[in-house]
Amino acid sequence: MLQDRSMSRRDVLAAGGAAAIAAVLPLRRSGQARASGAADGPFVLKPAKAPLVGMGFPETAVWTYNGDVPGPEIRRRQGEHLRVVVENGLDRETTVHWHGIRLPNAMDGVPHVTQKPIAMGERFVYEFDLPDAGTYWYHPHEGSSEQVGRGLYGPLIVEERAPIRVDRDVVWVLDDWRLQNDAQIVGDFGSLHDMSHNGRIGNTVTVNGRIPGAFWARRGERIRLRLINVANARSFALDFAGHRPVAIAYDGQPVTPHEPPGGRIVLGAAMRADLIIDMMGKPGERFAVTDRFYPNAGYPLRDIAYQDETLRDRPLDAPLALAANTMPEPDLAEAQRHHIVLGGGMMGGMTGAMMGGRQTDLRTMMHNGKAWAINGVAASGHMMESLLTLQKGRTHVFVMENQTAWHHPMHLHGHSFRVIRRNGRPTAHSEWRDTVLLDPRELVEIAFVADNPGDWMFHCHILEHQEGGMMGLVRVA
Ligand code: C2O
Ligand code: CU
Repeated sequence: MLQDRSMSRRDVLAAGGAAAIAAVLPLRRSGQARASGAADGPFVLKPAKAPLVGMGFPETAVWTYNGDVPGPEIRRRQGEHLRVVVENGLDRETTVHWHGIRLPNAMDGVPHVTQKPIAMGERFVYEFDLPDAGTYWYHPHEGSSEQVGRGLYGPLIVEERAPIRVDRDVVWVLDDWRLQNDAQIVGDFGSLHDMSHNGRIGNTVTVNGRIPGAFWARRGERIRLRLINVANARSFALDFAGHRPVAIAYDGQPVTPHEPPGGRIVLGAAMRADLIIDMMGKPGERFAVTDRFYPNAGYPLRDIAYQDETLRDRPLDAPLALAANTMPEPDLAEAQRHHIVLGGGMMGGMTGAMMGGRQTDLRTMMHNGKAWAINGVAASGHMMESLLTLQKGRTHVFVMENQTAWHHPMHLHGHSFRVIRRNGRPTAHSEWRDTVLLDPRELVEIAFVADNPGDWMFHCHILEHQEGGMMGLVRVA
């Protein structure tokens, strides 16, 4: 057993996200391709208990796929077919959305838009090809704030046909929980305060469903670290002190390998990053990985600890760049531009919006659990008139203007897009993403070819903002 710092109960559940350093925890299996099997499943949704906190705390009552948080890791090769039978053992309806996968509309898991919700005790078969390699995830799209917030999510890894050379492929699923002192989930889902401010920020951060212990590494080891932020609302900005992570993919999509500004890996809710880290510390050394996203609320996420064994004394000399995926290249000269305004929330200056077909003042909206709007319309549920109809096969640019005082990780279903400009300036890498984090008052432009026909959701992935109205429907036809 790997001995680590011990800590008191009070430290662990300290308020304000002081999540935690450590404890004695088994290293969790990750990064191993499943032995074989064309089909996973069935995936059964059910309540279970999970030792999120450990260290003598009671287990936490959670909702799971097959009894585990995160749910089963799905691993496939690019171009393979995925078939998952989902069985709903919860006491409410659900669906599964395969976040970031460019799949046929009918498999997208959006209730009432692409499918009937899966009723209690019923099954639904999801089946589609995996066109692109990358790091993805799955989660419910019905009652998401509570369903994801209680533990329903899992990683979906699509390996490259010709993977780059690394010593270990590691997945960290980052989540943020709001726990009471007895390690149980605080049941205040749907709070108006969360909805109209920063979303449901918790007080306990887990990696792969546990308060993480040290991450053990060998000197010289090259690690591919796949980060997935499944938190309802929390953003991360990870600082790997003493290491120089190189980003090779965002949201599953290859990017020119680069060290991000300030060495910080920023992940809004739902976002992913694939990093290459050459572990060049010395045996016995320890380094803290720190999350510094929120000013004055930094905390150590976990330590990187070096084993006695050395693998090599110089970093591996092997290429880092991933082969391109299959998205068509946007043609900016021919692009159709669409202006999209994000409004609402506290201190945003929005006085009202269209709600249920009627102009409604912000107070009345709040009474109905809404505080946000896209182009002046607050969504109530998934069924709605389309915000935009996009001509299929054409390049479209969304000029997104965040008129609010808050961050918003905006996600488009069914497509990946290039982030081409921020506040009018070209981005360094024109990176492909499916979710882009807008800073307060920021202007962000994205470009993509609308090549996937159907009705696709476009929403903030702070799940309380989504439920609070920040969602639209984009029709590709
Ligand atoms: Cu990951 Cu519409 O969601
Ligand atoms: Cu938002």
